[in-house]
Amino acid sequence: GRLEKFVDELPDMPVLRGYGVAEGGNLVAGELTVGMHDTMWKFHRDLPATRVFAYGASKETATVPGPTIVAMKGVPTRVTWTNHLPPRHILPWDRSLATARLGNGTGVPTVAHLHGGVQQSTSDGHSMAWFTSGFAATGPHFSSPAYEYPNQQLPGNLWYHDHAMGLTRVNILAGLLGAYRVVDPATEAPLGLPSGAEFDRDLVLFDRDFMRDGALFMNATGNNPDVHPQWQPEYFGAVVVANGKAWPFLRVRRRRYRFRILNASNARFFRLSLSGGLRFVHVGSDSVYLARPVPTEGFLLAPSEMADVIVDFAGAKHDAVTLRSDAPAPYPGDPGEKADTVAVMKFVVASKPEHDPSTVPATLMPRYPKPDAREAVVTRHIAMYEYTKNGTDEPTHLYLNGAAYTDPVTETPREGTSELWEVINLTDDNHPLHVHLAVFTVLKQRSLRRVDEFRDCMRGSASGGAGGRNDAVACGMQRHLAGGRRHVVPRQERGWKNVFKVRPSTVATLLVRFKPLEESSATASGKSGGFPFDVTAGPGYVYHCHVSIKQRKPLLKSQAWSSFTC
Ligand code: C2O
Repeated sequence: GRLEKFVDELPDMPVLRGYGVAEGGNLVAGELTVGMHDTMWKFHRDLPATRVFAYGASKETATVPGPTIVAMKGVPTRVTWTNHLPPRHILPWDRSLATARLGNGTGVPTVAHLHGGVQQSTSDGHSMAWFTSGFAATGPHFSSPAYEYPNQQLPGNLWYHDHAMGLTRVNILAGLLGAYRVVDPATEAPLGLPSGAEFDRDLVLFDRDFMRDGALFMNATGNNPDVHPQWQPEYFGAVVVANGKAWPFLRVRRRRYRFRILNASNARFFRLSLSGGLRFVHVGSDSVYLARPVPTEGFLLAPSEMADVIVDFAGAKHDAVTLRSDAPAPYPGDPGEKADTVAVMKFVVASKPEHDPSTVPATLMPRYPKPDAREAVVTRHIAMYEYTKNGTDEPTHLYLNGAAYTDPVTETPREGTSELWEVINLTDDNHPLHVHLAVFTVLKQRSLRRVDEFRDCMRGSASGGAGGRNDAVACGMQRHLAGGRRHVVPRQERGWKNVFKVRPSTVATLLVRFKPLEESSATASGKSGGFPFDVTAGPGYVYHCHVSIKQRKPLLKSQAWSSFTC
């Protein structure tokens, strides 16, 4: 049977306060313990409860998504992450993976990463810093489960999610994700945006498939089982889940609401719009406020991307407004094929007009640093390339400039500087590129010229060699980069971001900032232009595509690109 839409109310996730209040009202560092629990979650009225892995302060309070952690700018949040997961995963995982073998028998390897967070790499959730239940087994970069998030970054939207090598995909599908915000009342309250729990909400979206008995379904048979039993590139579910409920509804009043929308899917893009002609007004993108609000009729949100939008229901012509998506899966899909529009959720709008004290000011955060390409000290060319060995159907290998994840680090930026990254996408897929620690601005994106020739050269398989190992320079890169058609970067994506959708056969020019976005933190740390901690300590930081590929070592795509250390 089919699940009926709009029968469950959109829940709010529990809130964990990431700071303490001392006697006298001073704010002090927050101490939290967040566990990963094996528990049950009800995704829909008519679906039996689903076994999930969920974050929570306790097993009884664990939810999918996990609790929203609210941190205060400038006040550290310390989280001790604990793993209470059983030896067996609830989803199929590939035993040929190194991580799986290491954790085997002792539990499910997990490690939490705060996405968008500016923190020391020992607290960054390195994919090899995983640990199993009771720390029975730990990854080579594990040092401590007690993480410190300094929150010395501009206010905005982050999220935390599992990040374990080879298991990120299944751990997130099982439920290990949640929202995190850094708030700064001093600069945010004067904006007058909709505020308070009723009018300022997280909207965490993802897709899942379910069995009749409520179990999460993930196809365990590969596209080509003769080659690999489990290998298949992406996960798409037919059910759209918002804040842990399938196609929920929310009763709203005739006024403005703020939605901090996160696409927490493994691979599904959402192209969101509202029925009845209602618009979005974007106030933030990923973790940072925009300088000015940007109105749109709809927008595309890649896995791990965030949009912070205001919707004014005062203009609703009907009492029902649907939030819907018409992005094909996989994205961008076949150009000729029209995507089905899918419902995400429904708003039930009150009929009574009312006074709305909130506003959207004409400027939001005008004093944030502006991107300045002249600051760049280095230009890097980063070519994403997928290689499948000639004459086989084996799983795809992913390379950055011909190097695999396990190869030595090639991007070694200096703290306190900015760099230009020309990110060249030679694959057929749109790759939401995510950079840890840094933020970037997308300066432009252009089509590559004679991309087939470029790819053929990169493949370098004519010699029957390893393949995919030629670098972009050897392949006469400049000929392919020059003079291609320009693609517009949508206005709401021109601020400081940490994820950008790099289209197939294009080059995106990013100004990447390896220093705090706020100059004043330099003084706070006593270092000039630096982060408020030692970025050289620990295992370093990664950048990667945020589409989680299924199975096979070391091809978890969300980790497969090269990594950098500062
Ligand atoms: Cu959303 Cu490496 O993370």
